Amino acid sequence: MREFSEASITGAVLERFAECEDPRFKTIMTALVRHMHDFVREVNLTEAEWMAGIQFLTATGQTCTDMRQEFILLSDTLGVSMLVDAINNRKPAGALQSAVQGPYYWEGAPERPLGSDLAVDVKGEPTFYSGRVVTLGGTPVAGALLDVWSGDGEGNYDMQLPGQTEMRARGKLRTNAEGRYWFRSIRPASYPVPTDGPVGTMLNRMGRHPFRPGHIHMIVSAPGYQTVTTQLFVSGDAYLDSDAVFGVKDSLVIDFQRHEPGTAPTGEAMDTPFYTAEYDFVLCPVTEPALQD
Ligand code: BEZ
Ligand code: FE
Repeated sequence: MREFSEASITGAVLERFAECEDPRFKTIMTALVRHMHDFVREVNLTEAEWMAGIQFLTATGQTCTDMRQEFILLSDTLGVSMLVDAINNRKPAGALQSAVQGPYYWEGAPERPLGSDLAVDVKGEPTFYSGRVVTLGGTPVAGALLDVWSGDGEGNYDMQLPGQTEMRARGKLRTNAEGRYWFRSIRPASYPVPTDGPVGTMLNRMGRHPFRPGHIHMIVSAPGYQTVTTQLFVSGDAYLDSDAVFGVKDSLVIDFQRHEPGTAPTGEAMDTPFYTAEYDFVLCPVTEPALQD
């Protein structure tokens, strides 16, 4: 058949995949075409709207550089990244949950001794982080690696600051024989995802704000255990219920306890108020079977 109706064109496109030799690719493309055609029919897409969509995607691609990935931001703000994350990182109850990596990871942060200040000369309220890395059964994991990064207390990452060529508020820490870690950094602040590109325009037209609640990122790894990319969120943050990228999970929200000037947990004298934040990271062995939905 050469000529197709609004309804029959979908089957006609799918029939053309008959010779496709990669079964997974065929499954994905079949579902993609089906959903796209259903979407076009459902909203009765006009030609002008179709063109606006093409122009939006073109601009999204044109905004990408070595330093900026506007397509990932699009995926993040439409909840696709966290959906892919959820499907691929199903964890048993009590295990550390994952969250998107985001665009501000900088490979190669230096390993620092336990107790280090990761945020020397970084704006923000001093915070002493501590806790343990343990197994599901509560056994300490010695030598686990925490690769930590955050923005400053005003919500800016080092790589966003003009002229900032050195890493700040980043570092790797390794747990001691009792599985313990501790380090100093700042209390992270909420901040907007980049809004000067097509995704910012989209958020604005959708009537959405671009903010993420204050959070600190980490990748937690140890030999024999599943690596987890995650974030810890500041309890009480105004944006916890409306994170622009849908990254918040209840088990990742932690209290930052405020202290008056005095002696910090590391023994150092603090002449300004400071915070403490505690969290235990619970890892699954690599042999743990993946949970089904
Ligand atoms: C972030 O956590 O920094 C982030 C995550 C997704 C999109 C933009 C920023
Ligand atoms: Fe972030």
